[in-house]
Amino acid sequence: MTDLSTTYLGLQLKNPIVPSSSPLMQKVDNLKKMQDAGAAAVILHSLFEEQIEQESHALDHFLSATSEFNPEAQSYFPELGAYNRGPEGYLDHVRKAKAALAIPVIASLNGYSSGGWVDYARQIEQAGADALELNMYYIAAETDLDSAAVEEMYLDLVRDVTTEITIPVTVKLSHHFSAFANMAWRIQRAGARGLVLFNRFYQPDFDLENLEVVHGLDLSSSYELRLRLRWIAILYDRVSADLAVTGGVHTAEDVIKSVMAGASIAMTTSALLHHGIGHVATMLAEMRDWLEAHEYESVRQMRGSMSQRAVPHPAAFERANYARVLQSYRL
Ligand SMILES: Cc1cc2nc3c(=O)[nH]c(=O)nc-3n(C[C@H](O)[C@H](O)[C@H](O)COP(=O)(O)O)c2cc1C
Repeated sequence: MTDLSTTYLGLQLKNPIVPSSSPLMQKVDNLKKMQDAGAAAVILHSLFEEQIEQESHALDHFLSATSEFNPEAQSYFPELGAYNRGPEGYLDHVRKAKAALAIPVIASLNGYSSGGWVDYARQIEQAGADALELNMYYIAAETDLDSAAVEEMYLDLVRDVTTEITIPVTVKLSHHFSAFANMAWRIQRAGARGLVLFNRFYQPDFDLENLEVVHGLDLSSSYELRLRLRWIAILYDRVSADLAVTGGVHTAEDVIKSVMAGASIAMTTSALLHHGIGHVATMLAEMRDWLEAHEYESVRQMRGSMSQRAVPHPAAFERANYARVLQSYRL
């Protein structure tokens, strides 16, 4: 029997498929369905810095539904402003999730700056979370704030959260850094046990008739995985933090690619919003079949086999490949 088990942040997981933060996580019933479908762990939806600081204006990013969602998924969408039940309700949800599930429960804090709100990391730990995912989401729009200052702000936050608690902290971040490998390394040095690549930044659009800025939320496709594969493959064996993919994991093949690049786990959200929670079981079964058909004994054996250090042409992940790719296009 193929061994699908993996480890992430020191947690023993029975396979690498982990549903990531989304409105699906608001209901303990959904969490149980994920566990029943074979999910190895769950990442709860986020508690936001702004909420803790009593300013909830930043929630819009995550809250507008699109017609791509199936009716089942659509019914999970909350009214604006009701994404989670505020700080106290969130802690209660962590307790309930822990009581209901046998798989690890990873809570999520979403913010960008150090401050009093970081106390909630400790309260989340006390509520029983097995680990904490810190989602750092910031749009650096000030012309007088340079990249070094923004990076220092992130690192301060990681240091503050990791010194506050003893459960492992994993950091979900975007790729909008000019020296991403260095930033990943410094975040790990600041105390992160894991790196989650990558946050999706939801882009505002214009409504031309009403001259309004509108927020829409499009689900991902497998195409988005490629950016993640590149960076996981580059970072594998260069940082000691565990690597997780988020963004573009829709199929068993996407999970397999993520692991081959070097990820310990592959997170999925859009696929579950689109197909329903049962899709976890489909991906798991197809992954098992693939590994058996290709005579892999375990997920561990596969991990990193397509990382930059393992492939015969490491330059394929870097600039050297750029000219070749452009030349390969046939009119
Ligand atoms: C409706 C919706 C709500 C989300 N809420 C959160 C959240 O609360 N915290 C967070 O860190 N990520 C959140 N995400 C991001 C997902 O966890 C995930 O990182 C992203 O959708 C990319 O993965 P995917 O391609 O599998 O969807 C949300 C995504 C969606 C679509």
